[in-house]
Amino acid sequence: MSSLIKLLPENVANQIAAGEVVQRPSSVVKELLENSVDCGSKNIKLIIKHAGKTLIQVIDDGLGMNSDDLSLCYVRHATSKIRKPKDLFDLKTMGFRGEALSSIASVSHLSITSNQISDKNLGNEIKLEGGKIISKDEVLCKKGTSISVKNLFFNIPARRNFLKSDNVELRHIIDEFHRVALINHNTNFIFINNENEIFNLKKSIFKERIVRIFGKSTKEKLVPINELTQIANIEGFIIKPEYSRKTKTSQFFFVNNRFVRNSHLHHAVRSAYEGMIVENHQPSYYLQFSVPKDSIDVNIHPNKTEIKFDNDQSIYAILKSAIKHSLGQFNICPSIDFDNSINLNTPYNYKNKKATIPNIDFNKSYNPFDISIDSTQNIDLNPETSIEKESLFQNIFAENVSQTSFSAFQFDNSYIITKISSGMVIIDQKRAHQRILYEKFLSELSFDNNVSQALIFPVKLDLNTTEIRFLMEAKTSLIHLGFNFSKFTKNQVEVSSIHPVFSENQIHDIFQTLINNQMSDYKNNSDSLNDYISKVLAKCSAIKNGDNLGIAQQESLVNDLFACKEANISPFNKLIFKVISLESIKKMFFK
Ligand SMILES: Nc1ncnc2c1ncn2[C@@H]1O[C@H](COP(=O)(O)OP(=O)(O)OP(=O)(O)O)[C@@H](O)[C@H]1O
Ligand SMILES: [Mg+2]
Repeated sequence: MSSLIKLLPENVANQIAAGEVVQRPSSVVKELLENSVDCGSKNIKLIIKHAGKTLIQVIDDGLGMNSDDLSLCYVRHATSKIRKPKDLFDLKTMGFRGEALSSIASVSHLSITSNQISDKNLGNEIKLEGGKIISKDEVLCKKGTSISVKNLFFNIPARRNFLKSDNVELRHIIDEFHRVALINHNTNFIFINNENEIFNLKKSIFKERIVRIFGKSTKEKLVPINELTQIANIEGFIIKPEYSRKTKTSQFFFVNNRFVRNSHLHHAVRSAYEGMIVENHQPSYYLQFSVPKDSIDVNIHPNKTEIKFDNDQSIYAILKSAIKHSLGQFNICPSIDFDNSINLNTPYNYKNKKATIPNIDFNKSYNPFDISIDSTQNIDLNPETSIEKESLFQNIFAENVSQTSFSAFQFDNSYIITKISSGMVIIDQKRAHQRILYEKFLSELSFDNNVSQALIFPVKLDLNTTEIRFLMEAKTSLIHLGFNFSKFTKNQVEVSSIHPVFSENQIHDIFQTLINNQMSDYKNNSDSLNDYISKVLAKCSAIKNGDNLGIAQQESLVNDLFACKEANISPFNKLIFKVISLESIKKMFFK
């Protein structure tokens, strides 16, 4: 009988291996940036087209490669970074597996130009398609290396089709860029996306790099961490508890300069914040660990972001106590930020203005003991609409629900319980209000003349380039909804008026939620930008579970809900109300 087992051809083996290293364009960005860092570059430039689907190029001024290196660098297991097994526990570089370039080469059109000698502008260029060499020539080029990856996954249509929209893929690329650029703060980075420069980061200290990437407002939120022990040195910054957010936040662990994911360490941070932040909120952190090279194992997964510590229990304890210590110190003596002195923020015209005596106007005929005046008028949640919608509500609910004798009560400050002819309805107040507001915002987005509420002083938002880029997309819809901007620059936005359902102190939260949720499921599941904006605004302004509602508010909520186009489910696909039929109530009592 002939033997069945055959060795796979090299290109098939490479394609299989590539599946682990190159999952999407951002994986290529990570590997190329890390290679440029490993070869000692001072300047690194990343150029992207169509979220990396058509082009990813990284240009550096590092060590470069000679002609022989160039012929070997794309071969699987070819590396200049380690030689013997022991080297795995003495890693000085990000790469060591010798498989990134071979994986990338096998699923793209790859071209590498490199030169090792600075005073000779002559180097070599190699071109490959699907891992096969197409050409190798001498070319004019500066010292350093330029690697271009075109038509990623051209030979694996299933992979290419699996890629998400340009926006989502770009977000992944930006995340990888953040990880490399943050920790390599002594290197200059430029990032160009579709011919627009989105980052130009000059060599700086760690804190400045954080602020340059995540926006000026981050500066006042940071609390330093500095813990030096024999097992590990931990340095960096955590965010003040009041700035924790429910949405995705910045969470970075770097171990010996490598970005790593580690749920155990994350748990240590979370538990240090216990009692200081709401349970479902997330703290941001930017933490660097220096540990002896032989006390960690990085060779766990091909993407090299998992790590095993010899002393993980001790590191957990050190990290937790370092954070608790810094948070404690911060609580006792809050820092004074001289860059943000209140006087400096006072608008020029108001600084020397004389205070005028306020005019007090009162109704001289008002008698508080006159019972004919109803001083306890209830405030309606949505006064313009509730009167008109009461009739609709009556159509849905049976005749015997009388409008004048609206009977409902709030249970656990979260549910409104009311009756219909066939039984009773339990309504989740938060989800119901989200639905009402969502439909309100959506319909306002399709009509002109929406009301707007001007702010006395514009609210400043310091944002980074990526955040501004997203807001730019959303700007027209937001203006349509009554938001106005007195300033809209590369790194700052000033909000001068808002939609009337919001209050001034909600502005930071609304904009941060709008920006942070771009990656969330409900952004991906939204039909359009307007749909997404309506969802976020509804989420931010809806009443919460735990909010106590007066009887008029309860009534208005029920009326408005059943006037909605889709009263059953919230904008986030959650059940809003449940009907318990009279039949089933009777059954409970064996009637
Ligand atoms: N930008 C660059 N400048 C100089 N040499 C480079 C550059 N990129 C790659 N090389 C060389 O090519 C080799 C192969 O790169 P590759 O990324 O495939 O493997 P690696 O970095 O050694 O390990 P890993 O697969 O873990 O990234 C590197 O070891 C390095 O010698
Ligand atoms: Mg590498």
